[in-house]
Amino acid sequence: TTDPLVIFTPSGKRGHFPVGTPVLTAARQLGVDLDSVCGGRGICSKCQITPSYGEFPKHGVSVAPNALSDWNSVEQRYQDKRGLTPGRRLGCQATIQGDVIIDVPPESQVHRQVIRKAASARAITMDPATRLYFVEVQEPDMDEPTGDLERLSRALREQWQIESLRADLSVLSKLQPTLRKGNWQVTVALYRDHHGGPARLLDIWPGLHEGGLYGLAIDLGSTTIAAHLCDLNDGRVLTSAGVMNPQIRFGEDLMSRVSYAMMNPGGDREMTAAVRTALNGLTQSLTTEAGIDPALIFEAVFVCNPVMHHLLLGIDPVELGQAPFALATSDSMSLPATQLDLTTLNPRAHVYILPCIAGHVGADAAAVALSEEPNKSKDLVLIIDVGTNAEILLGNTSRVLACSSPTGPAFEGAQISSGQRAAPGAIERVEIDPVTKDPRFTIIGCDLWSNDPGFAEASAATGITGICGSGIIEAVAEMRIAGLLDPSGLIGSATQTGTRRSVPQGRTHAYTLWDGTASGGPLITITQGDIRAIQLAKSALYAGARLLMDEMGVDKVDRVVLAGAFGAHISPKHAMVLGMIPDVPLDKVLSAGNAAGTGARIALCNIASRAEIEQTVHQITKVETAIEPRFQEHFVAANAIPHATEPFPELAQ
Ligand code: FES
Repeated sequence: TTDPLVIFTPSGKRGHFPVGTPVLTAARQLGVDLDSVCGGRGICSKCQITPSYGEFPKHGVSVAPNALSDWNSVEQRYQDKRGLTPGRRLGCQATIQGDVIIDVPPESQVHRQVIRKAASARAITMDPATRLYFVEVQEPDMDEPTGDLERLSRALREQWQIESLRADLSVLSKLQPTLRKGNWQVTVALYRDHHGGPARLLDIWPGLHEGGLYGLAIDLGSTTIAAHLCDLNDGRVLTSAGVMNPQIRFGEDLMSRVSYAMMNPGGDREMTAAVRTALNGLTQSLTTEAGIDPALIFEAVFVCNPVMHHLLLGIDPVELGQAPFALATSDSMSLPATQLDLTTLNPRAHVYILPCIAGHVGADAAAVALSEEPNKSKDLVLIIDVGTNAEILLGNTSRVLACSSPTGPAFEGAQISSGQRAAPGAIERVEIDPVTKDPRFTIIGCDLWSNDPGFAEASAATGITGICGSGIIEAVAEMRIAGLLDPSGLIGSATQTGTRRSVPQGRTHAYTLWDGTASGGPLITITQGDIRAIQLAKSALYAGARLLMDEMGVDKVDRVVLAGAFGAHISPKHAMVLGMIPDVPLDKVLSAGNAAGTGARIALCNIASRAEIEQTVHQITKVETAIEPRFQEHFVAANAIPHATEPFPELAQ
């Protein structure tokens, strides 16, 4: 007689197993992805499965209702205590009695896919560096004089194939009481370094720990610090928040912060302290909002540009201010969070910082590469992460180039007369009627256009407060389309433009977007100075992209990806009217959202991706904009809207 046939779905893996084999055992032997924290003791309920009954001609089996063993006392106890979802069984308890088809629901898969993005096919499977293990430890006795840690270590080797274990003093002091309290059954949180080496014991709980395990993915920008609090079990983002980088008071952009450090003894330390304090505050507000214990945060992954990288680590960034822009280290960093004075997480939490590409191209660009994978793209893709400093990647499977370009904060609404951060009340979409030259707009927090009936009431809650980065880009582009601006970026007078919205301002003109002064609101105008600030920013962006294209020997790209929290909101059409990006069919301009933040989440959720990006950065060729004369030429030529010399054929259509 042959043993019963077991087929697992959705994997389709199949095999024959003797009657009485636990489903979990069969799954493990076939390499089916079925979770288990308690190692089959019927307490974690991670191993839930759903048997299917009936005729399955496609698989050549018919499954009888008694293909699995009846409920046993362990399952019954679990059912009484917490209840199993109807139709589900515990895979570690149910045993095989006949031919059977067994479905593994997504919640029971360890390596379930979590990050899937619309624009690209990247899917990431859960396999974080820190995981929980439930383990039964042998009690000590007089005949075996080993320590509790050695017995825990042996149990982990036998029950979980964890080869070696290391524990800090701070957790070692918890070990003995916890083992006894748990009656020699404990859950441990172990951190594995992706370069190998012993697992680190981060924490220990009596019995089965059900409080969860969390991590932070942090995009440390020069203007904004954005963080996601993620569940390390299923990859979910529990909550996200952003705060201003407090280093702004030492200098608006990167280079002014480097000069602050150069001019002021101890200035670097002041900036390091400021950012670390902000990170602690941010973590605290995230955990409060999510209602979780900060001690359950075991990992933080950082992505940042090189200057932020050094200031976070407490390294003076002066070398980054002058050629040859040497980094203290471009390698990834893996270190205890306490070394960075991060106190609002588990005291043994680990920090991972992605590798930098070069002195001006940081871990944030590496994170974008991890998330967008230009190195795996068949077509030539230009990825622009728009921020105070833009990271630009150009490449395909054969080669990837990277540079960074100092765009300045204009795209984030700074240095703009009515500029503000993207927050409720900020103008974000703008249209200008080419005939009447009258504008209409939307504000963040309200779906209506400003000329829609009901807009006044709908916008009353926030008011109209200013204009954010995407708003200013659209406003300038629309002004150009409506003939309010000439190609050099000059705002015409009322007579030249045919609208009284062009008002004289000193020796130049300004365009009135919104006049709320009658009701005590602001007067929002686009001034000549605003236009100049946007021209400088967009020229820097374009020149960086163009320089990479020169280096690659191409004058066309196949696809443009706009990344960055702000990149997600830019309208491709307006970006192209402005000449921010090279000419490409509009439907080939995609938005990737906060790709650097996504890259940080990927590295947080999947340990293999850390090795992957460390490998990838070595294959990226860095192009230095600061010392490249052609950058300057491209920059000057890109000042016109859209461009002085290069044609934009796609725009004409
Ligand atoms: Fe933990 Fe089945 S493996 S309950």
